[in-house]
Formats: sequence, C-alpha cells, structure tokens
Amino acid sequence: MIEIKSVSYVYQPGTSQEKVALRNVNLEIPSPSFFCIVGANGSGKSTFARLLNGLYTPTSGDVIVDGINTKDEEKIWEIRKNVGLVFQNPDNQIIGMTVEEDVAFGCENLGLPPEEIEERIEFALRAVGMEEYRKYPPYLLSGGQKQRVAIAGILAMMPKYIVLDEPTTMLDPKGRKDIIKIIRKLYEEEKKTIILITHHMEEVVWAEKVVVFFNGEIVDLGTPKEIFLKEERLDEWGLNLPITTKISKCLSERGFDIPHPLLTPEELALWL
Ligand SMILES: Nc1ncnc2c1ncn2[C@@H]1O[C@H](COP(=O)(O)OP(=O)(O)OP(=O)(O)O)[C@@H](O)[C@H]1O
Ligand SMILES: [Mg+2]
Repeated sequence: MIEIKSVSYVYQPGTSQEKVALRNVNLEIPSPSFFCIVGANGSGKSTFARLLNGLYTPTSGDVIVDGINTKDEEKIWEIRKNVGLVFQNPDNQIIGMTVEEDVAFGCENLGLPPEEIEERIEFALRAVGMEEYRKYPPYLLSGGQKQRVAIAGILAMMPKYIVLDEPTTMLDPKGRKDIIKIIRKLYEEEKKTIILITHHMEEVVWAEKVVVFFNGEIVDLGTPKEIFLKEERLDEWGLNLPITTKISKCLSERGFDIPHPLLTPEELALWL
C-alpha cells in the first residue's frame, strides 16, 4: 500500500516565486488496485506522481510505500525499485542505442545478474508487444512504440506499483488504445498496482477508483460511475464526460430506456 498522509508540496519555498502545488493531500492506494488521477492543468498531478517514488519528498507530511517513508534516504532504492514512473514524452525516457539496451538500463542499475536481465527483457518486451523490435535503434520507432519501450524498461525492474503520468498524450488514437490495453493487462493479469494520470476521461473507465485533483487538493474520490454522475462539478473542475457517457445521458434524459452512466463504447453499442 502507498499511504499519502497530510502531504503538501511547495516549489521554491521562501522565495517570491513560491508556489504551493499540493495542499494537505491524503490518500491510500492499496495493492493491487487501479487508480486514475484526473484534474485540470496545474492542479498538481505531476507533482503528486513524483512524490510517489521519492523523486520529490513532501514539504510537509509523509509518503509511505509498503511501510518505508520516501524521506528515508537509505531505503530510497527500495522505493525506486518498487514504484516505477512513466512520463508523458517517450523521447525523454529512452537512452539506449537499441531497444534491448534501453529496457535493460534500469535492471543494470539494480545490479542484477546478466541471465536474470535477459529473462526480464524478454518478459517486458513481450508484455508490451515489442519483442520483434529488440535490436532496433529506438529513434526508428513511432511515438507509441517508444512509449511501449519506456513502459517495458519500467516493467523489467518488476515494480509493484506503476505510475504513468499522461502516457498517451503525445500519441495518436491507435497508439493511445494500445497503451491503455497494456496498462489494463498489467493490472488484470500481472496484478500490478496502476496509478494512471490522464486528461482523457474515456481512459478512466477501467479504473477501480478515480481521484480528482483541483488546485492542489483532492476534491473527490469515487468509482468512474460515481464521478461521472457529478456532471456539474466536473465542469467546475475543468473536466469533461467521456463521449459514451454524454450519449447515455442525452438518451436517458429524452426518455429512452438506457442506463446512465454507461462507460464504454461496447456497452453503449449493446444498448443501442
Ligand atoms: N518546477 C516548478 N517550479 C515552480 N512551480 C512549479 C514547478 N513545477 C510545477 N509548478 C507549479 O505547480 C503547480 C502544479 O503543477 P503540476 O505540474 O503538478 O500540475 P499538473 O496537474 O501535472 O498539470 P498538467 O496537467 O499541465 O500536467 C502548477 O501551478 C505549476 O505551475
Ligand atoms: Mg502534469
């Protein structure tokens, strides 16, 4: 479990540019689970992500990963190993000259024996459907493929928690779908704990819990259905309903016998 206890985070404290990015945030993320974090630009999502693996430590409050405080410098590697972070831009995350070299990088830092690294590269590339590209130089890959390699690099470290900060933003619709499919599989089959930060509300429908950030605070926490029923508040928070849910709302308001909110296009198609 990751426990976030009364966490605040201030950038450049004590200067004229001081900025409170997070204010008294409390959350418990059990393992395994699938959490989505949503919120308008600047609401503190990326700051929150960086606190989860100790890249940042709270200005006040504590982040505790399986009993280890991220402020405990002696155990920071334990935390980094267990909490993998995937960023928005795959170009900034790829460092190897070949795909396999890139995927191996994190494992090498963990000091694993070569045979074990070999097994992990194979597993990770298979999990993201990139095994055929093993010997490729990453610059020849598409954005979506690069993001899959970045996820494989994290996976190879076998973290229990995977935090993804808007991993589909730079991708086209097909690339986005592929990444979401991989994320769902990691949760459903590999029993990873997923913390997915996203702007795309249609991506949150698979989550167990959706956490809404607004202005540095958590303002709501619920299942996707619970959150989608609060349409007016979503508007205040700068968020949209997914198109499927908008349609189920319009139709049910017009007297059609259709449940609202519907979450996925498949469910909607079935009812139509
Ligand atoms: N390095 C920094 N120095 C000062 N202020 C910062 C820094 N990084 C972020 N901030 C500020 O902290 C607040 C939260 O930023 P953060 O990046 O966590 O938001 P976000 O929800 O991830 O936004 P986005 O949706 O645009 O990615 C914003 O007001 C931002 O301007
Ligand atoms: Mg961000």
